[in-house]
Amino acid sequence: MAQLLRLFQTLLILLLRDYISAEDGETRASCRTAPADLVFILDGSYSVGPENFEIIKSWLVNITRNFDIGPKFIQVGVVQYSDYPVLEIPLGTHESTENLIKEMESIHYLGGNTKTGRAIQFAYDHLFAKSSRFLTKIAVVLTDGKSQDEVKDVAAEARKNKITLFAIGVGSEIEEDELKAIANKPSSTYVFYVEDYIAISRIKEVIKQKLCEESVCPTRIPVAARDEKGFDILVGLGVKKRVKKRIQIPTTNAKAYEVTSRVDLSELTRNVFPEGLPPSYVFVSTQRFKVKKTWDLWRVLSLDKRPQIAVTINGEEKTLSFTTTSLINGTQVITFAAPRVKTLFDEGWHQIRLLVTEDFVTLYIDDQEIETKPLHPVLGIYISGLTQIGKYSGKEETVQFDIQKLRIYCDPEQNNRETVCEIPGFGWILLQSEWGCAVRFLDHTNGSFLKGSWFEGLI
Ligand SMILES: *[C@@H]1O[C@H](CO)[C@@H](O)[C@H](O)[C@H]1NC(C)=O
Ligand SMILES: *[C@@H]1O[C@H](CO)[C@@H](O)[C@H](O)[C@H]1NC(C)=O
Ligand SMILES: *[C@@H]1O[C@H](CO)[C@@H](O)[C@H](O)[C@H]1NC(C)=O
Repeated sequence: MAQLLRLFQTLLILLLRDYISAEDGETRASCRTAPADLVFILDGSYSVGPENFEIIKSWLVNITRNFDIGPKFIQVGVVQYSDYPVLEIPLGTHESTENLIKEMESIHYLGGNTKTGRAIQFAYDHLFAKSSRFLTKIAVVLTDGKSQDEVKDVAAEARKNKITLFAIGVGSEIEEDELKAIANKPSSTYVFYVEDYIAISRIKEVIKQKLCEESVCPTRIPVAARDEKGFDILVGLGVKKRVKKRIQIPTTNAKAYEVTSRVDLSELTRNVFPEGLPPSYVFVSTQRFKVKKTWDLWRVLSLDKRPQIAVTINGEEKTLSFTTTSLINGTQVITFAAPRVKTLFDEGWHQIRLLVTEDFVTLYIDDQEIETKPLHPVLGIYISGLTQIGKYSGKEETVQFDIQKLRIYCDPEQNNRETVCEIPGFGWILLQSEWGCAVRFLDHTNGSFLKGSWFEGLI
C-alpha cells in the first residue's frame, strides 16, 4: 500500500511539474520544434566526388541548424549510399543540434555505384520502421545520377507507408522521370532540380519551408482540383456551428456567414495551429463590414492576451495593419496606408490577401498588389492562448460583419494561384469555362462590363 502511495505521489509530482512548466513559460511552436522524423538519403557515388560531398554535408548542416533536435521535436537520420547503403546517423540518437551537427561533419564519402532503390528500402527498414514515434515521416533523397537498381516500386511502397518523399536532383545526368517516380505528388512541390552542387545552397530556404509545411501544415484544403496545405480558420473556429445565419452573395452561388455581436469566435490556438505557423504563408479572407472602429479580423493572442499575430482593420484611419512576432521587440506592427486600402471600407465584398515571407509582407486587395513592407525576423507563436476572429482591438467584444472565407495557405506559391476567380463578389461575374474560370468586372452603375477589365485564369 505504502509503495502504491509513493508511486501515486511520484506520478502526481510528475504531472504537476508538466502542468506548472506549461503554465509558467508559454510554449512557442514553429518549424523549429514541430515533431517529425526526417531522414536524408545522400548519394555517395563516384560521380559526386569528395569536394562536392563536402558541399552536401555543409548544406545538410545548414538545414539542420533550423531545427531544435530532441525526443519531443525533430529527429534527423542520415543514410549515405553507393553500391550499398550505410547508416551514418540513426534516428533519435542526439539530444542536441550541436552534437548532431558534429556527427554530420564527420561523415566520410563512400564512392561507388548509384543504388538508390536499395537505399530507400534501407531507410525504411532501419530508420523509419524502428521509430516508435507516430508523427510526420519525411525522407529527402539527394542524387546526381540515374539509379542502377529498381527504385519506383520501392519508393511507392515507402510512400504507401506514410513516408513523404522529396527528391533532389543535381546536374545533367539526372533523369527527371525517375525523380518524379521517387517523390510524392505534385512534383512541383516534392521534386527539385539544381544544375550543380554549388547551386544546392540556393534551394536551402525552399527545402526548409517545404519540410516545415509537412510537419506544421498537415491539413489539406480542397481548392479547385488540388488539395492545398493550410488551415481553414473558419473550420478551426467551428463557425459553421456557432454562426446560424447564412447569406447568399448576390449574383453568385457562394454563401457567407453573418456574424453578430452575440457569438464568440474563439478557440485555443493549440487546437487550430498545434505546431504554429510556417515561416512563409498566405493569409486570405473575403468579407464585408460596416463598422467604423478598429477591429481584428484575425488574431492569435498570448496567454496574457497580447496579440502575437493580427490582421487589423483601422476604421478611423481607413488603413490595414499586420502584427506579427519579432526577434527584436517581441512584436512588430506593419501598417498599410496606401489610398487603395480605403476601398475595403465601402461596405462591399472584398478579398484581403497577405503574402507573408521571412523578409517581407505584401498586401493584395481584390487581387491587386497594394504594397510590400519589410519584416524583421520573427519568432514562433505561443500556442497556449486563443485564436479569434472579428474582435474589437483590445477587447473581447465581437464585431458585426459578414465573412465568406478565412484561410492560411502554407505554400507561398498559392499566392499566385488564389485569383479573383475565387472571390464571390458583388460586381463580379464568374464565368465557368472549359479551361477554368474567368471573371469580368461589372460596372455597378449601369450593369455593363467595364472595358479592359477582363481577367482570365486557371484555378
Ligand atoms: C552553409 O552556411 C555557411 C555559413 O553561413 C556558408 O558559408 C556555406 O556556404 C553554407 N553551405 C551551403 C552548402 O549552403
Ligand atoms: C522597439 O521598441 C522601441 C520602443 O520600445 C521602439 O522605439 C522601436 O522602434 C521598436 N523597434 C521595432 C523594430 O519595432
Ligand atoms: C456605364 O457607366 C460607365 C461609367 O461608370 C461608362 O463609362 C459606360 O460608358 C456606361 N455604359 C453604358 C452602356 O452606358
